[in-house]
Amino acid sequence: MKAVVYKEPFKVAVEDVPDPRIEHPNDVIVKITTTAICGSDLHMYEGRTGAEPGIVFGHENMGIVEETGPGVTSIHRGDRVVLPFNVACGFCKNCLAGKTGFCLTVNEGFAGGAYGYVSMGPFIGGQAQYLRVPYADFNCLKLPPGDEHEDDFALLADIFPTGYHATELAQVSPGETVCVYGAGPVGLMAAYSALLRGASRVFSVDRQPDRLRVAHEIGAIPIDYSKGDAVEQIKEQTDGEGTDKGIDAVGYQATVPEGEEQPAMVLNSLVESVRPTGMLGIVGLYVPADPGGPSDSAKKGELLFKIGRFFEKGLRAGTGQANVKAYNRQLRDMIIAGRANPSFVVSHRLPLAEAPEAYEHFDKRDNGWTKVLLKPQMA
Ligand SMILES: NC(=O)c1ccc[n+]([C@@H]2O[C@H](COP(=O)([O-])OP(=O)(O)OC[C@H]3O[C@@H](n4cnc5c(N)ncnc54)[C@H](O)[C@@H]3O)[C@@H](O)[C@H]2O)c1
Ligand SMILES: [Zn+2]
Ligand SMILES: [Zn+2]
Repeated sequence: MKAVVYKEPFKVAVEDVPDPRIEHPNDVIVKITTTAICGSDLHMYEGRTGAEPGIVFGHENMGIVEETGPGVTSIHRGDRVVLPFNVACGFCKNCLAGKTGFCLTVNEGFAGGAYGYVSMGPFIGGQAQYLRVPYADFNCLKLPPGDEHEDDFALLADIFPTGYHATELAQVSPGETVCVYGAGPVGLMAAYSALLRGASRVFSVDRQPDRLRVAHEIGAIPIDYSKGDAVEQIKEQTDGEGTDKGIDAVGYQATVPEGEEQPAMVLNSLVESVRPTGMLGIVGLYVPADPGGPSDSAKKGELLFKIGRFFEKGLRAGTGQANVKAYNRQLRDMIIAGRANPSFVVSHRLPLAEAPEAYEHFDKRDNGWTKVLLKPQMA
């Protein structure tokens, strides 16, 4: 089959790789109809992780079940399914507690597995024609047949539940004010989720005019940090107090307006933007080792975080991979009921063959390249 293969920093290619096959009785093989490129892929694409050449990318996958292993009971050939980016067993201590982002079974010696991602286990990515899904009864979320809501449902693999998870970590409640750093796909989903949960005002911070425009369209208040300090702009609009809650949807590759990276910039901005006793939801990625980090400590994943201010203000924070399975069924049902339409974030729908160009544009955050869906069945 054809798949998107990482070659070297800033280069992927669409190549022939072996077809996946059933390896365990509870596996299924899914014929991919939609698979998305994620900001998380860009950390690997830019050579800013330990990812080795040869890895097949793709952790945001949906499609039609092609083949089922003999132990699969609830999923059948022809079912339309979306797969959480987390690969999880369903029976370990963390899965039983709903923390499927930290499964103890699927990636030995580590808590958490994912398709097509460095350090996240042996699972081949789905930016390809087919995907092997382990523990299929647990991992497949069934969708209504047909092709209605295809692009909304595709976002259930990662960014919609991840944005929602950020609001859960920050315990966003009706009437609260929330600042969201980053108006990339994840930040937009976090802002959207905060509004779905009844936040009174959501501030969306970025410097990309096209992304800030989308934030404005969904009802968030855009804050352009290239036009003045974001913390001050937020404080000005909250009577000097700061917001009740804050979300990091940027991570360690945060940049100053001029483009230089400052890995702790968003964490420290959040500490100043949120009022005393507020809560932070940190879903932007932080890594234990960053080969391209801007300092020796950053290379070891050690950042200059304002713990003193964080402590003084009595702030609390939640971090980590989103437990997609904790929310994907409910968010699917909001889509079906017409209460959520996350695909407003999608800017491009392209055949798999165009993945190399799509990576280039999305990596440069070129104007209008907000979220790319690849369609392997498209010629
Ligand atoms: N925790 C999880 O489960 C999970 C899941 C998916 C993605 N992620 C992570 O979430 C982050 C965002 O993903 P994405 O797909 O939206 O990526 P993205 O790179 O497209 O978006 C990041 C946005 O942040 C903006 N930005 C950069 N520096 C900033 C700053 N100092 N202040 C405000 N905005 C700033 C950029 O302009 C960009 O629009 C990535 O780190 C990704 O790895 C985490
Ligand atoms: Zn993703
Ligand atoms: Zn598990």
